[in-house]
Amino acid sequence: MSQLRVDGGTPLSGEITVRGAKNFVSKAMVAALLGEEPSELRNVPEIRDVNVVAGLLQLHGVQVARDVAGGVVRLDPSNVESAHKADIDTHAGASRIPILLCGPLLHRLGEAFIPDLGGCRIGDRPIDYHLDILRQFGAQVDKLDTGILITAPRGLQGTKVHLPYPSVGATEQLLLTAVRADGVTELSGAAIEPEIMDLIAVLQRMGAIISVDTDRVIRVEGVDRLGGYVHTALADRIEAASWAAAALATGGDVYVRGAEQPSMMTFLNTFRKVGGTFDIDDDGIRFRHPGTELRSIVLETDVHPGFMTDWQQPLVVALTQASGLSIVHETVYENRFGFTEALRQMGATIQVYRECLGGLECRFGRRNFFHSAVISGPTRLRAADIEVPDLRGGFSHLIAALAAEGTSRVRGIELIDRGYENFTGKLEALGAKIVRD
Ligand code: EPU
Repeated sequence: MSQLRVDGGTPLSGEITVRGAKNFVSKAMVAALLGEEPSELRNVPEIRDVNVVAGLLQLHGVQVARDVAGGVVRLDPSNVESAHKADIDTHAGASRIPILLCGPLLHRLGEAFIPDLGGCRIGDRPIDYHLDILRQFGAQVDKLDTGILITAPRGLQGTKVHLPYPSVGATEQLLLTAVRADGVTELSGAAIEPEIMDLIAVLQRMGAIISVDTDRVIRVEGVDRLGGYVHTALADRIEAASWAAAALATGGDVYVRGAEQPSMMTFLNTFRKVGGTFDIDDDGIRFRHPGTELRSIVLETDVHPGFMTDWQQPLVVALTQASGLSIVHETVYENRFGFTEALRQMGATIQVYRECLGGLECRFGRRNFFHSAVISGPTRLRAADIEVPDLRGGFSHLIAALAAEGTSRVRGIELIDRGYENFTGKLEALGAKIVRD
């Protein structure tokens, strides 16, 4: 397990660059499987999730060529073939992406095998919507000891699907399956995150016919054949917000080159309400601590266009430095406050509750999920030895260590490599005192 020694107490200051969104790039790479011609994706970050998807695609015969520094990935799916189950299994536990290979593999090969899935432990993270969608298209789903085998002996037919909750992954599952299914598919209750809109843009470039109507309705007219695409990925708005929260928590001033305003509107509003200041130009966004007291807020996470669940954890660290009581209600994942335990150990005053505090009753109310948090600030944070629990929680611990007085040891930082490109290099560029052991 790698660890980072962090000598905290220095405001982060300077400039870093964010590249393409982790939660889009991996899906766009999978989309290339659907085409009969090569695709080229640009603005691809050097993160572990990209390596995992590249590995999975290569197992299925896709030729992957990368220019890491230039951020370009070329994918040639001309010779797609079935991979050995044992090889796919070596990827089990590494990521949740394999489930999204189902539609493309069913179209290309007539079957797909999905190992037990990994990803961050922030709730149950079931795949029932995914499997229901595939069944509705006419696929047969068989659960084996090692994973799930999905076959489509009679091909895939367009269908009408309603999602009980606007799941990002399930919406992507539907898109990646419907584009080459026979006939028309209608999805209501769809997720409409900017990363999904960018995936639709990629699919349209490949030859798909997709319309996004009002009220979360997406319509897809299946086509027989798709080509390749050339596309530049939208920026990673989760990474950008993480650096913004780090600037706020450490009393710093960080210019995030590549950050884009349209996908961060809701975050920017909240950042301003807490008291942070920002300046936007054509190339990025500069996030600054105001130099005066930060203000407490009431916040609820939600699907787009609401406040993203992935922005919640880094911002909670900044809220430990705000004056008064902040209330944060997490409505997307039932178990995303585990990371606050370490913050309490560092001196933060945070209590978690089962009740839906501060807003609407959500799916997790009146159940045993500690999904609301009350943060009382400002509190001085002390250094501690901590272990990274998941990707976003881990980066949040890092922010806390940077804001704390003394030397912290953060263990298990390889988890952060999954989604934050060269984060130690960026921290050094911002003046952080860190050593990676
Ligand atoms: N859900 C179900 N059944 C399903 C699928 C989802 O009940 O079959 C529930 C989940 O348990 C959760 C909610 O629906 O409570 C939303 O999950 P969603 O499907 O939207 O999430 P996801 O597609 O698994 C992606 C991102 C997450 C991000 C969420 C929400 C990727 C690879 N992951 O997950 O990102 O938090 O959307 O925006 O795109 C991260 O980057 O750290 C991360 C966790």
